[in-house]
Amino acid sequence: MNVASFFSKSTKEALQNDPPGEWMPALPNECIRLSSGYPAPHLVPDEEIKQAVASLLKEEQDLPLHYLGSPKMEKLKEQIQERLATRGMHVGEDELLITAGACQAIDLIARILIDDETLVIVEAPTYMEALEIFQNYTSHFMSIPIDKDGLQTDLLEDLLAERKQKGLSLPRFLYTIPTFQNPTGTNMTEERRKHVLKLAAQYDFLILEDDAYGELHFEKHSTPLKAIDTDGRVLHVGSLSKVVAPGMRIGWVAAAPEFITAMAWFKKDLDHPFAQATMATYLESTDMKERLETLRSTYQAKCSVLLSALEQYMPTSASWYVPEGGYFVWLKVAVDTSELLAQAMEAGISFVPGRYFFLSQEDGTQYLRLSFSYANEKNIKEGIKRLGNLLEEVESSER
Ligand SMILES: Cc1ncc(COP(=O)(O)O)c(C=O)c1O
Repeated sequence: MNVASFFSKSTKEALQNDPPGEWMPALPNECIRLSSGYPAPHLVPDEEIKQAVASLLKEEQDLPLHYLGSPKMEKLKEQIQERLATRGMHVGEDELLITAGACQAIDLIARILIDDETLVIVEAPTYMEALEIFQNYTSHFMSIPIDKDGLQTDLLEDLLAERKQKGLSLPRFLYTIPTFQNPTGTNMTEERRKHVLKLAAQYDFLILEDDAYGELHFEKHSTPLKAIDTDGRVLHVGSLSKVVAPGMRIGWVAAAPEFITAMAWFKKDLDHPFAQATMATYLESTDMKERLETLRSTYQAKCSVLLSALEQYMPTSASWYVPEGGYFVWLKVAVDTSELLAQAMEAGISFVPGRYFFLSQEDGTQYLRLSFSYANEKNIKEGIKRLGNLLEEVESSER
């Protein structure tokens, strides 16, 4: 039997791409994981989740385990509406869909918006899993570079004006991570936020705002695009993965009701009622304001350990952006980072080579993403020391 002959046309096309998750090498336990964009293990509230499960089942018996699920699922929606409102996003019940993590939200948005001819604009670099999702639906992409102030909206404007003038197709949406971007850690300025919304109205496209790190600022918080969108053009995706626990798979999309209805059409039962009810129970008994303060100060401290280690151990050829929040630092070095990874792993450290974050992978050869979220402070320092030594060695052997 020829298995491949049974696949749909779009599946056959998607299978031509690189396999998903290729950037994630198998890592031995002792490896210092500067590659992992995971929460710090000690900040994942396993005891509290255990208590939430027990209290949910005690209160509702088997109800949360049935198809119809628990009334707490509605409660979770209200809790998320309240959380969004504190950040200036006032969304009605028909403007919010709970999903299995931000990734399912991105997939559903791709599913309802993208045809195989659809042009999508992404940032360069951008979150590789979102790229993988979009590539399952279209092969038409353009990218706009990021600098220390986020997406370069003047370049976006030039591109849009040129395409319009030449009668070429305009994008259906822009995928952006304006706040503490993955992988660069950059934060889009207020001016650029306003500019990108103006361009969306002028050139009639939508904005997929991925806000996975939006609440993890160190000092100054930023206003989400959704909060200043007066036109209903922003589909705002959020997640509890980075602030509670990624294994719970709780995310959402906040958007105009027509988008929500279309996404709910496809999502149906493809999420996890028990996880949603458990999360609602957990949130009921958690002071999230206090928890967020703890997360922010812990990640800020870890970030400064990483930055000081970079100052101390990196060769002068290396440069980086100083993040104002999130999980990542983006490093530019003088060597090919894909080749460097094998040596780094031999030295007991991991990072993500820059090429995975770009549409044109060759644009990323001199970059790498470091995460300060997962490893502990001692290991962060040790990991950067080993990376610095390795870079010195490789650079001197190439001289
Ligand atoms: C920018 C960005 N969006 C979305 C996600 C995925 O979030 P979730 O675990 O909610 O699917 C991540 C996780 O790394 C991310 O970095």
